[in-house]
Amino acid sequence: EPLRQFQEAYALAKITPSDLRSRLWFNNPDNPEMTALYLERYLNYGLTRDELQSGKPIIAIAQTGSDLSPCNRHHLELAKRTRDGIIAAGGIAMELPVHPIQETGKRPTAMLDRNLAYLGLVEALFGYPIDGVVLTIGCDKTTPALLMAAATVNIPAIALSVGPMLNGWFDGERAGSGTVIWKAREKLAAGEIDDAQFMEIAAASAPSVGYCNTMGTATTMNSLAEALGMQLPGAAAIPAPYRERGQISYETGKRIVDMVWEDLRPSDIMTREAFENAIVINSALGGSTNAPIHLNAIARHLDIDLTNDDWQAHGHAVPLLVNLQPAGKYLGEDFHRAGGVPAVTGHLIGAGLLPHPDVVTANGHTMGDNCEDQRSSNPDVIKPVEDPLVKAAGFINLKGTLFDSAIMKTSVISPAFRKSYLSNPDDPDAFEGRAVVFDGPEDYHHRIDDPAENIDEGCVLVMRGAGPKGYPGGAEVVNMRAPAYLLKQGVEALPCIGDGRQSGTSGSPSILNAAPEAADNGGLALLQTGDRIRIDLRKCSADILVDDEILKERARDLMEAGGYQVPDSQSPWQQYFRELVQPFDKGMTLRDAPNYRDIARK
Ligand code: FES
Ligand code: MG
Repeated sequence: EPLRQFQEAYALAKITPSDLRSRLWFNNPDNPEMTALYLERYLNYGLTRDELQSGKPIIAIAQTGSDLSPCNRHHLELAKRTRDGIIAAGGIAMELPVHPIQETGKRPTAMLDRNLAYLGLVEALFGYPIDGVVLTIGCDKTTPALLMAAATVNIPAIALSVGPMLNGWFDGERAGSGTVIWKAREKLAAGEIDDAQFMEIAAASAPSVGYCNTMGTATTMNSLAEALGMQLPGAAAIPAPYRERGQISYETGKRIVDMVWEDLRPSDIMTREAFENAIVINSALGGSTNAPIHLNAIARHLDIDLTNDDWQAHGHAVPLLVNLQPAGKYLGEDFHRAGGVPAVTGHLIGAGLLPHPDVVTANGHTMGDNCEDQRSSNPDVIKPVEDPLVKAAGFINLKGTLFDSAIMKTSVISPAFRKSYLSNPDDPDAFEGRAVVFDGPEDYHHRIDDPAENIDEGCVLVMRGAGPKGYPGGAEVVNMRAPAYLLKQGVEALPCIGDGRQSGTSGSPSILNAAPEAADNGGLALLQTGDRIRIDLRKCSADILVDDEILKERARDLMEAGGYQVPDSQSPWQQYFRELVQPFDKGMTLRDAPNYRDIARK
């Protein structure tokens, strides 16, 4: 009788209360002793036996908010609404802490902690009586860390963004997170503003709770969590303080309970087709250059071989539709009001550009059902496909003697940069330059403004020792500003290349995420200041113009000297991380970790 009632109530149910994995803890008829042991402690804060044994699914709220994680801190409030939704749908909510990650506050870099948060959450979801999980995402690395963990454990999971901050304003203009800092630091270097004014501009960009309001890595990754189908439609873009943010938190809590009964798992949603959709949507968003690292990582944990070649093949030709800083003009509130991710997706579907509208999403409907009728309500913020901001907005994947793979966002190449470097009529897509090589960010800061370095417009700035092993986690330092004396002469930017990363809030056309990194003794480790290098954007090549024999000799010398030297690890995790980490093009995953899959079902 109870089973019949249950099945009537949940028409789409594929499992019943007796199939819940939490029953192994709290209601295991084969082992009453262990049931008693597991059960008693969860009663001690007021839960009742009835709640834990009446066949309700236990839903974790993986909480990324804390005082250390201000971007995600508002999740502490939103979790109340999420919990209400879980209870309303007949579940039991259990909130658990995720290792804190704050992008700009963590030394040496928050990227180091993505895999740590992933490992911690895998253990929590696998080792405790949890039937489904709400992933509270926001600040850059929190999104991939939680999606990687959900992919590995593969219990029903739904993501919930904390939402961007309100628009920042300074001097009557939109002041976007990060982007204003990159601009202001050039004014500071040129002596146009002082330290106090610099701080005032920075603070103006952060007017409320929430994550970065630009199309940086946070907005990118939250949008891509929706593009992958892991959030409710429209859930990514709602600003953190808006009432709709609380409402979608409630709806998300309700929905995860049904997902448990429907047994709808991350591997059902995040398929190869879903990743190809996400690559296309990323281009239309003008998404961050950190996205390939994170999506390649999530995919590997699902046994999907996603590579930087896929990003170029599926993403490069896609037009840029979203007019957000750093590539454009607007900020997060504008993006939400114009229709957010569903409107972008709707335009792409309308133009036949979304490869797989039929994939299922977290709400149980297909991406096409959710988005095909959605359109921009403000064509200046979300452009139609016929009138894009840029025609080919995706990444190219460069290869050559400098490295096997590096990402470049060609859509942010400015007209001034194009004129300086890509205007040779015989060779319009290529440029050559003299390398100025920096070993890590400290070396760069030490030398960049020294006139003795003789840096001029014919130089290419190269940052190495900034990859996953070199600077554990990889530093966001490849977007190097030009020397102050060149800025004062009106030179805006020099070409930058490196094995580190770049903040998604920076609009520089750098060549990034190069793999192998110098610390793996690849081509970058052999480069010397003064070498000429050649970049060809049409052939997608990047080469050292130095004789093969000389390079071989340098390689021998390097290995005799013990390989490329990196600074000592400062913590146990930095050491383990360096021992286990894979290159950026493989998602910076940990060795062997992607072999553990679907572990909750085994
Ligand atoms: Fe956390 Fe940008 S620094 S979202
Ligand atoms: Mg960042």
